[in-house]
Amino acid sequence: MKLKMSIYRNAVWFMKGLQEYTKGGYEAAAKHFVAADLEVNLSGRDFMITGANSGIGKATAFEIAKRERPCSPAGHVQPQAGVGVCAAFPGEPQPACPGTYILTTALIPALKKSQDPRVITVSSGGMLVQKLNVDDLQFEKGTFDGTMAYAQNKRQQVILTERWAGQHKEIHFSSMHPGWADTPAVRSAMPDFHQKMKNRLRTEAQGADTVLWLAVAASAVKNPSGLFYQDRKAVSTHLPLAATRSTPAEEERLQSALEQLAQRFKP
Ligand SMILES: NC(=O)c1ccc[n+]([C@@H]2O[C@H](COP(=O)([O-])OP(=O)(O)OC[C@H]3O[C@@H](n4cnc5c(N)ncnc54)[C@H](OP(=O)(O)O)[C@@H]3O)[C@@H](O)[C@H]2O)c1
Repeated sequence: MKLKMSIYRNAVWFMKGLQEYTKGGYEAAAKHFVAADLEVNLSGRDFMITGANSGIGKATAFEIAKRERPCSPAGHVQPQAGVGVCAAFPGEPQPACPGTYILTTALIPALKKSQDPRVITVSSGGMLVQKLNVDDLQFEKGTFDGTMAYAQNKRQQVILTERWAGQHKEIHFSSMHPGWADTPAVRSAMPDFHQKMKNRLRTEAQGADTVLWLAVAASAVKNPSGLFYQDRKAVSTHLPLAATRSTPAEEERLQSALEQLAQRFKP
């Protein structure tokens, strides 16, 4: 039954990906974008972007920098819009995503004192194939499967985003899927996928588009906090009939376990 469900989820997800996550999917979605949403002057605004020396994080940083006029002499590394990019990839051993948790929770007090505070966590559509598994947050049971662990971490990020939104009303939280973008991570961690799909992958800038929109567009914060986005639209966090919904008790356990883990890294 578990295997059948996994095959079902993966097949439905991949078909969806071919249609929506590719460059073609982006171009179709972009016909409905409002260009003026990104015509903003970000001078005086502060952004913190993680993973900004490569891929989607770098493309986001460039797009933000282009909109800062005139340039400030000092680099802007203050939490006002936070763009969380938790960058583990299939194949790498990866514990439950504490990086996103520690960074975001550490910034919450400062964010609450800021104007228009936003937190964007870059998750992945890959999370759609996983139900939260709070019984094995460190992937210690069974054989380690990097792709599964990646998707599980990305599911955790989406759930944390929803919970933080409920707990910290002063801050606007979002999680998002960038689509399938041609980045160094995809090239190195998923060489077969990259080889097969390279002509259909999004550019890094296309992958970054929704991160940027969530970080800077006035219309983005008119939507409720805590949603999951793809191509500037809030989308479902579950595939149809995929049985991936977790209970509030399971989600509470996730947050408590991450808080316990985070305590080890706090001064
Ligand atoms: N590309 C896609 O198709 C795709 C699809 C779905 C989701 N995503 C998500 O998008 C995000 C960005 O991915 P990308 O494709 O742009 O990858 P990328 O080009 O490899 O960029 C990842 C960035 O994160 C940094 N990083 C990696 N491990 C880190 C760590 N442990 N601590 C701090 N920084 C770390 C890297 O720094 P170094 O260069 O110094 O290692 C790099 O700057 C990831 O969260 C990924 O899961 C990407």
